[in-house]
Amino acid sequence: MSDSSAGGFKAGRFSNLDAADEASEYVKYLEGAGARLRLLSRARYSLLNLRPGDQVLDVGCGLGDDARELAAMVAPGGRVIAIDASAAMVAQARRRSAGLEMAVEFAVGDAHELQFAAASFAACWSERVLQHLADPGRAIAQMARVTRPGGRVVVFEPDHSTLVIDAADRATTAAVVRSLAESIRSSWVGRALFGLFKASGLEEVRIIPTPILSHSWTDTNALLRLDAALKAAVERGTLTAPAAAQWLADVEQRHAAGFFFGCLLCFAAVGRKP
Ligand SMILES: C[S@@+](CC[C@H](N)C(=O)[O-])C[C@H]1O[C@@H](n2cnc3c(N)ncnc32)[C@H](O)[C@@H]1O
Repeated sequence: MSDSSAGGFKAGRFSNLDAADEASEYVKYLEGAGARLRLLSRARYSLLNLRPGDQVLDVGCGLGDDARELAAMVAPGGRVIAIDASAAMVAQARRRSAGLEMAVEFAVGDAHELQFAAASFAACWSERVLQHLADPGRAIAQMARVTRPGGRVVVFEPDHSTLVIDAADRATTAAVVRSLAESIRSSWVGRALFGLFKASGLEEVRIIPTPILSHSWTDTNALLRLDAALKAAVERGTLTAPAAAQWLADVEQRHAAGFFFGCLLCFAAVGRKP
């Protein structure tokens, strides 16, 4: 994704955050718009079927918010190990957990190559990480490998191409959605989860669709950075600058008038290790 007018934020950089010159902008994103989405996925913790004493893995933990909540769910006696490819994120997660009386450990690690023995965990969790991976199927297979028989693997991912926005110019709307999807490495992962879970040998696979409905252009743009997707489309020549400006004015006007409508489909997937 190209630079947004609000700064240098690029959603695609979540694939390689330590290479980003300014991690703080991504921290701010996870604390703001990202946190609002995280609140929705919390309802999915129950899919993990956790019990006190369980050991859980959080893959791509970011700031560690899920890991801390999961640690409370497996107390007493349980433990959460949380990994992230970004040393900057792991440092943030550790700082935010310092002094808390909970069994949670953070480490740098790659979802594609989990450094744990087979059947090490009662359950594995991953939220909004697979979309940033070169090979989400491999990460799911790794989570299945480290989960013990009878344990659950649960992930939550959006599918960016499912975004609908009510705007006058359909062609520009389609170009914006395409530009958004092209900015994320594995933006189709939401719809691929069922097949990838099945291919990794997980059983009782279920997909739970979760539409994220918004009547606020401001919130939608904060979550998806559509202004940056617009700008990227103009730079690539798939959209003219006047068409982009007109589209932006249209959605801002709808927002101001109280009838903006946008909706993105996300999917939770759960599977049981045989
Ligand atoms: C959008 S954030 C989500 C963070 C957290 N799961 C949450 O829901 O708040 C994506 C996270 O995935 C991490 N990530 C990206 N590629 C990864 C990989 N190959 N292995 C592990 N983590 C990765 C990023 O560093 C970032 O912290």
